[in-house]
Amino acid sequence: MKKITKVHKPKENKYIFTEGINYFETGKTSIWGTGDKDTLELLRKIKIHGKCLNLAAGDGRYNLNLLKKTNFVLASDIDEGALSKLLHNTPKKYKKKLDTKAFDITKKFPFESGQFDSIFCTGTLHLFPKKVLQQIVF
Ligand SMILES: C[S@@+](CC[C@H](N)C(=O)[O-])C[C@H]1O[C@@H](n2cnc3c(N)ncnc32)[C@H](O)[C@@H]1O
Repeated sequence: MKKITKVHKPKENKYIFTEGINYFETGKTSIWGTGDKDTLELLRKIKIHGKCLNLAAGDGRYNLNLLKKTNFVLASDIDEGALSKLLHNTPKKYKKKLDTKAFDITKKFPFESGQFDSIFCTGTLHLFPKKVLQQIVF
């Protein structure tokens, strides 16, 4: 599978808060580190089942934790380069229950309603003003 090295430039006036980097120049671990202690603890304890949507997943900081607990994870982000790194760094045995989809979360989601049993989203929703956040959530 080809690596996507294209840089997705941010456009903050359009609510696109990308990093504007080639993720394949950032090493194997996530650019946001190995994970927040409390979030990792929650992910360890919480019961999740079925299909999970990892919204604005970035380069996959928590994606493997989700894959280990669920039947299927769809990792999404507006930045295809981030998703490409996430996919490339996922161990082979988990790849069969992983898919990725690039889309803008401020627009209509490209899914039927009820397609997922859970949605996971970290480090992103606080970036949007209240009006846009309401659009995303409802
Ligand atoms: C701070 S990172 C958090 C990534 C990941 N959730 C984590 O906690 O490690 C924010 C992510 O939101 C994505 N993003 C920014 N604007 C977006 C938009 N309008 N639609 C979808 N994703 C967006 C960025 O590309 C980036 O991967």
